[in-house]
Amino acid sequence: MSREGQPFIYLDHAATSWPKPPEVTEAVVQATLHDAANPGRGSHAMAVRASRILFETRKQLAKLFHIKNPNDIAFASNTTMALNMAIKGWLKPGDHVIATAVEHNSVRRPLYYLEQTIGIEVSYIESDLTGKLKVEDVESAIRPHTTLIIMNHSSNLLGTIMPVADVGELARKNGIKLLVDAAQSAGILPIDVEAMGIDMLAFPGHKGLLGPQGTGGLYISPNMEIEPLLHGGTGSQSEALHQPHVRPDRYEAGTQNTPGLAGLQMGVRHVLKETAASIHAKEWALSQRLLEGLSSLNPVQLLGPGIGEERTGIVAFNVAGIDPSELSFILDQHYNIAVRAGFHCTPMAHMAAGTSATGAIRASVGIYTTTAEVEALLHAIKEITEQYGI
Ligand SMILES: Cc1ncc(COP(=O)(O)O)c(C=O)c1O
Repeated sequence: MSREGQPFIYLDHAATSWPKPPEVTEAVVQATLHDAANPGRGSHAMAVRASRILFETRKQLAKLFHIKNPNDIAFASNTTMALNMAIKGWLKPGDHVIATAVEHNSVRRPLYYLEQTIGIEVSYIESDLTGKLKVEDVESAIRPHTTLIIMNHSSNLLGTIMPVADVGELARKNGIKLLVDAAQSAGILPIDVEAMGIDMLAFPGHKGLLGPQGTGGLYISPNMEIEPLLHGGTGSQSEALHQPHVRPDRYEAGTQNTPGLAGLQMGVRHVLKETAASIHAKEWALSQRLLEGLSSLNPVQLLGPGIGEERTGIVAFNVAGIDPSELSFILDQHYNIAVRAGFHCTPMAHMAAGTSATGAIRASVGIYTTTAEVEALLHAIKEITEQYGI
């Protein structure tokens, strides 16, 4: 069988959502055509329009995450940059950090870098095979010099949803800051930074918020200051040698991605209209169908929480006797189905799940995924296992 003539099925939304709502693409085009002067620099009409785009995008994000002051959001080019801003901007030599055993390399590598360079200490909290962790274990890991707890809201391998609000309460009680990696939850799970005790929220624009690649941001609570990652032009206080203290300028050196952020604004508006809760409910239902269908196939090993349990729309699995990379290649070449195989930038989560030696296949659904597409993946896996005689 060949992929020619078969409909393209995209099940890699955990990496980047696709397609985008039409108004997102349209906003990128319109901003590029009409409003792409330099935001925050110059007072001519086009520069003012560009600044307004950024302001409105910040406002919509603030509404979504229940952030009081939109200026507490700094734009970044992706979650990785936002996490680096938070981690390198907050931690000082001698600090102790608690993180979970299912973090992405975008948390693990900056922490490792700081361990090696300025001397911080990191404790990773163990989880069970499905990525679940106990809040008591986080509590027992607290030391006198713990200044930060980092956790992803949902594991990008296992789909597990983390007890962010409980950890937020614990962090607040102990005077420790909480940084949440919302790469797999922004636009997918309801987020309220105040109610959940989140001090810093790193989020991508290009995944659940349905915006273009090259967009994202970091919320920084008004109750804390971090050092800027970048120093340079902001269009404000040009005569000063130091980075301005006013937000968001302090954390936004250099020209921002006006067309991308115009698109992100439309993505966020789309999420606000549909609501994160209903997007989650739809994606959960699709994940359940995937889990049920895969579990009826003998050689399939499922990762993450079981059928009926809470999770995001990420379903990782392995088929005994077939290498995950080979399986994803067959799905792509013969069935025109896009999934992601390998280690998903999270060797830690693979270690927790016991798949360090093999990696896994990850199928992830999005707002436009249909039941028919999920059925097509299940049909393909069944056919491949039959052809392999397993
Ligand atoms: C949990 C998690 N953190 C961080 C990242 C990095 O995100 P970005 O590609 O936006 O830098 C990802 C990407 O998949 C992720 O899943």
